[in-house]
Amino acid sequence: MKEKLLSALNWRYATKKYDPTFILEEEDKQTLESVLQLTPTSYGLQPLHFIWINNVELRAQIQSIAWNQQQITDASEVLILCAKNALEPAFLDQHADHMRDTRGLKEEQIQGFRKHLHSAIGQKAIADIKNWNGKQAYIALGQLLTACALLELDATPMEGFDPTALDDLLQLGEEGLHSVLICTIGKRDSTDTYQSLQKVRRSKKSLFSTR
Ligand SMILES: Cc1cc2nc3c(=O)[nH]c(=O)nc-3n(C[C@H](O)[C@H](O)[C@H](O)COP(=O)(O)O)c2cc1C
Repeated sequence: MKEKLLSALNWRYATKKYDPTFILEEEDKQTLESVLQLTPTSYGLQPLHFIWINNVELRAQIQSIAWNQQQITDASEVLILCAKNALEPAFLDQHADHMRDTRGLKEEQIQGFRKHLHSAIGQKAIADIKNWNGKQAYIALGQLLTACALLELDATPMEGFDPTALDDLLQLGEEGLHSVLICTIGKRDSTDTYQSLQKVRRSKKSLFSTR
């Protein structure tokens, strides 16, 4: 398992050129949806939403606000990772209710958690909440990239787009959402020269210390 994990992480790279004929199997897509569903988040709130972009015209429009990156039109899948703009009291209550019912708890057993959620989140400024929710999308991205590597699927994480323009295009504000990341998924093209480049990583010596 250790070898499999490290070899998958060495094999993966941020793919620049996809094989446009490759189509992701539905079973793999469902596995990736489970991976995203299982992503850990602060308090388990999952203030996230994921949008698969299949529409060809929409992909072309997204490409034009994403540095014209070719992956957007060539990859089998384009996923927009979105986060909620706010954490409304009703959303917090829904989460506490969901936890109570899923775990078969009595209301008094969840009350402390419910109260804590409301008070801790109630103290945060709205801008901080939006930013905090966005961070949860990065955790999902990390999990997604590792899963893709283990499934021998290629992927490209992307911040290279205009988030305000994408929010407008997808009318995300109306759903109380904003775009955080794009991830394309598919199969690398055999002519993508990036696949043979050496990985550039800082040494473990500079990354780790012990105290
Ligand atoms: C949050 C994030 C945003 C990124 N945005 C882009 C992007 O817009 N376009 C792109 O081609 N690569 C993008 N990358 C890929 C990085 O450049 C790449 O992961 C890094 O150089 C390490 O190389 P490797 O992933 O091929 O090992 C992004 C990576 C991350 C984690």
